[in-house]
Amino acid sequence: PALVVDFGAQYAQLIARRVREAGVYSEIVPHTVTAAEIAAKNPVALILSGGPSSVYEEGAPQLDPAVFDLGVPTLGICYGFQYMARTLGGEVANTGLREYGATDAMIPVNDSTLLGGQPAEQNVWMSHGDQVAKAPEGFAVLASTPATPVAAFADEQRRFYGVQWHPEVKHSDHGQEIIENFLHKGAGLPADWNSDNVIAEQVERIRAQVGDARVISAMSGGVDSAVSTALVHKAIGDQLTAVFVDHGLLRKGEREQVERDFVAATGVRLITVDAADTFLGHLAGVTDPETKRKIIGREFIRAFEQVQRDLVEEAKASGEKVRFLVQGTLYPDVVESGGGAGTANIKSHHNVGGLPDDLDFDLIEPLRTLFKDEVRAIGRELGIPEAIVGRQPFPGPGLGIRIIGEVTRERLDILREADAIAREELTLAGLDQTIWQCPVVLLADVRSVGVQGDGRTYGHPVVLRPVSSEDAMTADWTRLPYDVLAKISNRITNEVSEVNRVVLDVTSKPPATIEWE
Ligand code: XMP
Repeated sequence: PALVVDFGAQYAQLIARRVREAGVYSEIVPHTVTAAEIAAKNPVALILSGGPSSVYEEGAPQLDPAVFDLGVPTLGICYGFQYMARTLGGEVANTGLREYGATDAMIPVNDSTLLGGQPAEQNVWMSHGDQVAKAPEGFAVLASTPATPVAAFADEQRRFYGVQWHPEVKHSDHGQEIIENFLHKGAGLPADWNSDNVIAEQVERIRAQVGDARVISAMSGGVDSAVSTALVHKAIGDQLTAVFVDHGLLRKGEREQVERDFVAATGVRLITVDAADTFLGHLAGVTDPETKRKIIGREFIRAFEQVQRDLVEEAKASGEKVRFLVQGTLYPDVVESGGGAGTANIKSHHNVGGLPDDLDFDLIEPLRTLFKDEVRAIGRELGIPEAIVGRQPFPGPGLGIRIIGEVTRERLDILREADAIAREELTLAGLDQTIWQCPVVLLADVRSVGVQGDGRTYGHPVVLRPVSSEDAMTADWTRLPYDVLAKISNRITNEVSEVNRVVLDVTSKPPATIEWE
């Protein structure tokens, strides 16, 4: 793989994605790995990410300098660029001059591997305090900015390259081109990584792991679990049973849609567990968000354990084992929970349905190395319909965390209707693919006065929470057209009698989160 060394900024994942977009498989490793560990992965290229610190700061992230002796083509970005400069004998200075955001880069040479053929002046995105004052011996300076004399450099002999700006962000004009130039021309790598190869490789791997054993899959109807289930089905056919838990917190028509569309598209045997009574029973009287989440997570586990017991009974009769459980864990989950590559633990990831490790299953996680957009591509390749593959995220705890206050059947019915109207109108307006998602939240303990016909009403408000995001880590509220908002508001207040007010959430994440609970 191409290895992205994570110096602790939030950019490592973005870099890894851009590398894959260039057709080269990438993985992320923490900066604490040794050169020997890196060598053991047989890297075809190294990219050193940006980072939050100054290279001179106490405790600034370090990298084993021996990685520069491995003979692997290397690209340093921002902190990675400065780290490279300093470690290889150049000079990094803290001039007090900072550059944040858009900057003009001047590119005096037009024939370099990295920047060749690009405009002599281009808009690039910067975020740094220190700067490289002098390139190390053997390096040619390729670019400068008003505040930075050395903004890009290259040592063609050793195939070492670096840029001060962030080529991985879309605000840098020719960013992707720089990454591709490094990979294809600098490191000489072909663009041969794509979803076809991934499917073939995973199918083989799953068959080897499973043999002729029986497998169940946790299938929520979301993109990740649908694609992982379909992939495993492609590998082992009817050895697989998918399990869908109806916890009573689903959206209008969701269960029917999953049962119909998913099964029609894949032919997978699907069991639906009817658990609404159980879930709602345990949620009665509960208003605290974390308590709700914990109860829902726990009841998911109970539901799966029950299925496991049922299938064990069944399996005993036929002499087969039910040992494997499929989960749609993605690469960001693995990276963020410090798994696999051993990166910093940002948050413990809660996988499908919040299933714990001590559940008595061996896990099959065929999407463990993939990003969301890659999973979607694979889903399309597998013939999963757009209604599933292009689906917006929906949280495992469902509408249970979109009712502020106690969750009751009556309140769920109200929210389901309002949510269905919002989704329908956003789809009609052609906006469902441009927004990330639009939770509708019922403020169940709030009432306000309204007037309808000749009468006074005293109903509940619902909140529209339309957000735009690339990965849900950060988000901005979406500026939906007024006429679409008006239509949604009109319809909800007319068609859902308990709701007499519709309000818009205009907060980004951070400081708010996407969901209200
Ligand atoms: P927040 O509210 O943390 O949400 O900004 C970020 C994204 O994650 C979804 N979400 C969840 N997904 N189980 C899930 O599978 C959960 O418990 C959960 N909580 C939030 C949320 O819809 C958004 O897309």
